[in-house]
Amino acid sequence: MIFEALKPQVSQIVSNTEKTVNERLLNICELLETHIEYYNWVGFYFRNGDKEELLLGPYVGAPTDHTVIPFGKGICGQVAVSNKNFVVPDVSAQDNYIACSITVKSEIVIPIFVDGKNIGQIDIDSNTPDPFTEADERFLEYVCNEVSKILP
Ligand code: SME
Repeated sequence: MIFEALKPQVSQIVSNTEKTVNERLLNICELLETHIEYYNWVGFYFRNGDKEELLLGPYVGAPTDHTVIPFGKGICGQVAVSNKNFVVPDVSAQDNYIACSITVKSEIVIPIFVDGKNIGQIDIDSNTPDPFTEADERFLEYVCNEVSKILP
């Protein structure tokens, strides 16, 4: 199972103190995008201080105009408010969705908690329809928990 093989690599990246936090986050995006064929855009969004908006962090994939996302807007903005995983098997069926690329068919967003507070998220877009399972959720929760160890 690819996820079990990737977990130690995620932990290794996170604990590499020779790199900055953003370099390590980018390395995680690269690891996931490279090894999981249906992960086509992988990025982090983080809350902008006390403001009710998300800022784009490190990512891999097509550049996006959506570098700032208000709370409540799109899939990402909804996760900022709900504190819950959001799996979207078919983005065209979502009313509150921010399109980044016409190739994207599905999306998964998992929140990141530090001291119980939702401080950001990992966002993955896929060009494959309905590819995400509970195994993706459990794996990405692991990734978010590892990443939370190096975030303020
Ligand atoms: N589709 C997201 C916007 C971010 S992009 O996927 C990079 C959303 O609806 O929140």
